[in-house]
Amino acid sequence: MLQVARQLGTPCYVYNEAVIMRQSRIVLDTFENQPVKWLYAIKANDNPHILSLIQKSGIGFDTVSFEEVLLCRHFTDNPRQIFYTENSMSDAEMDAAIQMGVILNIGSLKRLERFCRHPEATECCVRINPAIGDGHHARVNTGDSESKFGIRIGQIEEAVALAKKYGKRIIGLHAHIGSGIKEPENLIAAMKVLIELSKEFSDLTFINFGGGMPTPYRSSEKPFDMAHFGRLASALFEADLKGRPEGFHYLFEPGRWFVAEAGFLLTKVQTIKDQLETRYLGTDTGMHHLMRPIIYDAWHDVVNLTKIEHTPDQLYTISGNICESGDILAFDRLLPEAEMDDVLAFCDAGAYGMTMASQYNRRALPAEALLKTDGTFQIIRPAQTAEETVAEFLDKCRFTTTINS
Ligand code: LLP
Repeated sequence: MLQVARQLGTPCYVYNEAVIMRQSRIVLDTFENQPVKWLYAIKANDNPHILSLIQKSGIGFDTVSFEEVLLCRHFTDNPRQIFYTENSMSDAEMDAAIQMGVILNIGSLKRLERFCRHPEATECCVRINPAIGDGHHARVNTGDSESKFGIRIGQIEEAVALAKKYGKRIIGLHAHIGSGIKEPENLIAAMKVLIELSKEFSDLTFINFGGGMPTPYRSSEKPFDMAHFGRLASALFEADLKGRPEGFHYLFEPGRWFVAEAGFLLTKVQTIKDQLETRYLGTDTGMHHLMRPIIYDAWHDVVNLTKIEHTPDQLYTISGNICESGDILAFDRLLPEAEMDDVLAFCDAGAYGMTMASQYNRRALPAEALLKTDGTFQIIRPAQTAEETVAEFLDKCRFTTTINS
């Protein structure tokens, strides 16, 4: 790892291919004899090399924007391998998705009506708000009854009536209760709700139960017991499958599960300073590269790779290089005494790290590298240089167009 930091420079994201493959294998082995398919929620990490790696293991794509759909089209000729959960989708996006033939998952009655009125639309999935939410933070709880997502259970009759009126088929039911689910029982409860509701629909070919399988970010957190979850879910499926048509299947669409533990954000110490009560380690990365600690108070373990053999006996607060006092990636971490240029690793940063990165303060985006199973490293996205970043920005803003009123 230190060598990658030396060769690639910091900051950079590094992903371990073996971990991604392990996570894929676990899910694929969970339901051996049941009609279960897995999708990867690409918002967690959409580096093309990672998409290709996960797709090769037999996993489809879960997308939430037309841009993500377009990206996935580069990895599969079969649009039915792409599941597109809309969220305030525009008419133009809907039209393009219909033309493309991806599976559209619609989350509001108004949008369902627009879909039904589209002459070329034939079938879609609907997203239900199951009134059961969960997640590692209130901001990622999507199943709560007041969240902006999904069609209320009380409006299902209307959804069914709409489809019938326009002669369209609702072929799928979907819910996603949140990200980083804390109580797996909540997921099981929401699955039961969906299975029960599915009786109201006559054309269903699948039910998609969303993602949200958590990652243990702290050593005190237990890993999600996929095998146990599989047993609980299998019992539901076994009872539900009787009377279902040929080809009927269940889906899950986790993102974090596949990539979080595989990723590290490497950064170098650029300053060390004692304020009255806080000892800061200033780094060459920040909230623009790893937003999670700032938005969700998220925890990422930090390791000083340069001092790996040393005893952790100092408390450090690790700050970024963004001009905001809130740009703190970790508070009060016990680490070995650090020196300038030490390389730190933020662990479990493979999900929602790079995909949420920005150029705030006009900063450049970091490189990404893949540690392959044969031990070699591959740069899968070179770092932007400061010069490139500014040149691209200037180029985009060079031309002004006047819009006539
Ligand atoms: N399906 C849908 C419809 C979603 O909205 C999401 C995540 C997923 C699947 C995948 O969830 P996962 O299995 O990765 O938990 N930025 C936040 C996470 C936001 C997730 C939003 N939706 C974070 O860094 O924790």
